[in-house]
Amino acid sequence: MPQTTGVLPPTFDRADGHAVFPQTDHDETARMNFLTGLNVHIGRTLSPGVRITYENRVKPKLEKAMREKANGGPTTSATDIRKAMLHDTYYQQWGALRRNTQEASQQASREIALRQVDALSAKAANLNEGRNTLSLDDSLTIPAYQAAVDNHLMPGSYYTEAVPGDVTAAATYEISLFPIGGASFGAKGDGGGRAMANFVRDRFPDLKPKRILDIGGGIGGNTLPLAAAYPDADVTVIDTAAPMLRYGHARAQSMGHSNVSFMQGLAETVDIEPGSVDLIVSVMFWHETSTKTVRDALAHMHSLLAPGGVMLHLEQPNFDDDTPVFERFMRDWDAYYNNEPFWPKLHTLDMFQAMEDAGFDKDKLFDAGTEADIEPGRFQPWSTIVTRHRHETKDLGDTGRKLSALGGYKGERWWLFGGRK
Ligand SMILES: C[S@@+](CC[C@H](N)C(=O)[O-])C[C@H]1O[C@@H](n2cnc3c(N)ncnc32)[C@H](O)[C@@H]1O
Repeated sequence: MPQTTGVLPPTFDRADGHAVFPQTDHDETARMNFLTGLNVHIGRTLSPGVRITYENRVKPKLEKAMREKANGGPTTSATDIRKAMLHDTYYQQWGALRRNTQEASQQASREIALRQVDALSAKAANLNEGRNTLSLDDSLTIPAYQAAVDNHLMPGSYYTEAVPGDVTAAATYEISLFPIGGASFGAKGDGGGRAMANFVRDRFPDLKPKRILDIGGGIGGNTLPLAAAYPDADVTVIDTAAPMLRYGHARAQSMGHSNVSFMQGLAETVDIEPGSVDLIVSVMFWHETSTKTVRDALAHMHSLLAPGGVMLHLEQPNFDDDTPVFERFMRDWDAYYNNEPFWPKLHTLDMFQAMEDAGFDKDKLFDAGTEADIEPGRFQPWSTIVTRHRHETKDLGDTGRKLSALGGYKGERWWLFGGRK
């Protein structure tokens, strides 16, 4: 078990600001701290109780009912568990608290961003003006799978605009990651990108990328570590959502990254010269797209890669034959109660087969586990491991880097997967 007892989450004032980071007053900061703490408390203290209530109160009755129904041994599915758990008071209260804490975190973040809508868009416009590294496409239609829901209950999603030139969707996204992720992504929210940069350097020391794409790269928080690792490369963030790109571009400019451009486009069709890209990455992207898009985008990425180029993605791990049915039930919670409708399909997709179908050579596919790599300094090391995502990730063995200062850490890793062309 990770050694976490008694360690509190970092406070919101420790998040690294930048020129377009929303200002917070005393009460807003206190609210963000409370919500971060509550999310961590749910993940760390209350979530383990769901297994206890299942094992002790629900499973015996469910298995008895299954035996009677099936006239044989119980073959319980994740759906059977969820339906049975819906009647359990502990599960009801845990689920209601989790849902409401997520909503409160999103609403609090949205409110902070919206009350400074004009100031934020003016700051972004100022930093973006006259640069040729931001390219927006007014004719892009937001795909139905993205328009249908506000993912993870983020009001207005990534792409809606309250005023012309609006960046509040992006500001909301950036600050909401702090409470909903239990401050586990680092002071700049770039722990995933730092982990990917480490992985590419270790695994492909011969790769000297001249052109890098981050697909669904949003505000570029996880792109910047790659831009820093490969300062001679041209790095491009591709995303559907104009507010994310405007804000991300201004953010990168204000942080001094001159080799990163931001381009509006769809992962599955973006107009880039085939065979011209050396490294394609994504962070937490696939779970918000339809299965068709997963397949189309993988094929498109294969066509964009140069020979010898690498594709690398960071996501929650998919299920495999060894994933216990209780874990499947827990990890699909967000599909039902947190506006993440694509999780169950993605979790059961054979990603290796999908990459092969997209044109990648079976022998050049890989995967590994990694923790977020938290930049030392402003956050305590606990935040690399104490996360609400604990039950959404799993131990993938000894393949990832061990960066936790607490040592001895074995589980709850993000999944890295990809292929080389
Ligand atoms: C969960 S966010 C992740 C953002 C970023 N990678 C990060 O680490 O913070 C997913 C992003 O994917 C974008 N997105 C969804 N579908 C897309 C598509 N088909 N093509 C490009 N971007 C897409 C969304 O607009 C959103 O910014």
